[in-house]
Amino acid sequence: MSYQFLQFDVADRIATITVNRPDKLNALNDATIAELGAAIDEAVRRDDVAGVLLTGAGRAFIAGADISELESQSPLDGQRRARVGQAIFRRFETSPKPTMAVINGFALGGGCELAMACHVRLASEKAKLGQPEVKLGIVPGYGGTQRLPRLVGRGAALKLLLTGDMIDAAEAHRLGLVDQVVAPEALMDTARAVMGSMVANAPLALAGCIEAVNRGQDTDLVQGCTIESDFFGLLSATADMREGMRAFLEKRAPNFTGA
Ligand code: COA
Repeated sequence: MSYQFLQFDVADRIATITVNRPDKLNALNDATIAELGAAIDEAVRRDDVAGVLLTGAGRAFIAGADISELESQSPLDGQRRARVGQAIFRRFETSPKPTMAVINGFALGGGCELAMACHVRLASEKAKLGQPEVKLGIVPGYGGTQRLPRLVGRGAALKLLLTGDMIDAAEAHRLGLVDQVVAPEALMDTARAVMGSMVANAPLALAGCIEAVNRGQDTDLVQGCTIESDFFGLLSATADMREGMRAFLEKRAPNFTGA
């Protein structure tokens, strides 16, 4: 598929989706959001893709929703826009293949929200993150008020949401908003290496971990552990479980097929 505002590349079973509006710091207009939905669907559908990196062209990851489109929205437009974006961001979160935000620069507003919807976040030392919506007279619309407290806790989330301040990568790492910080020049190679170590594992086991974490976070510990034990049992039916354990016992690398 071809895209107007994204680049979609596949190498070594890893798809890299690059938001490509560098002159607007990759601000998310409605068309780009729609393309992000098509791109994550393409990555999930394709047999030659096992994991997804999401990054931005130029000096920004994504500097938020496109303010020029928000400026004239009616209340119903705003509600619709938020719901459409939330549903698309959710597809990055529920993808059965690992998704990683590779935060090369500004990740503000919708950019920070999309990064939070990915399974893992890797940031350049130069990255800046924040939810500046209150400075524009709005609240986050793409899940920021919900995912930020889940990632960093209520107090730290409200501090970021209510000040609208930007924080640097080191502070984001201290808070747990990003999982790893690396030098800018090492960012993409590190992202490929970390994703490579994920996609070397059994695909159905990866999908099971993702679904157990997603469903478990929306319930209590006992229900969550039941979800986990169901997956633990279910995966015993897979050829990849037998292959993984046999390879360990035979002291060789496993050859997983996703079956
Ligand atoms: N929506 C629309 N356009 C945006 C944008 C956004 N969220 N963020 C940046 N841009 C555009 C700027 O308008 C500018 O376009 P122009 O060259 O046609 O004037 C271009 O991207 C470069 O941005 P600029 O502000 O000149 O860069 P800077 O280095 O001075 O500042 C930021 C960088 C990220 C601090 C600043 O662009 C900013 O605050 N952006 C908005 C962040 C935000 O509030 N996001 C949440 C939206 S809900």
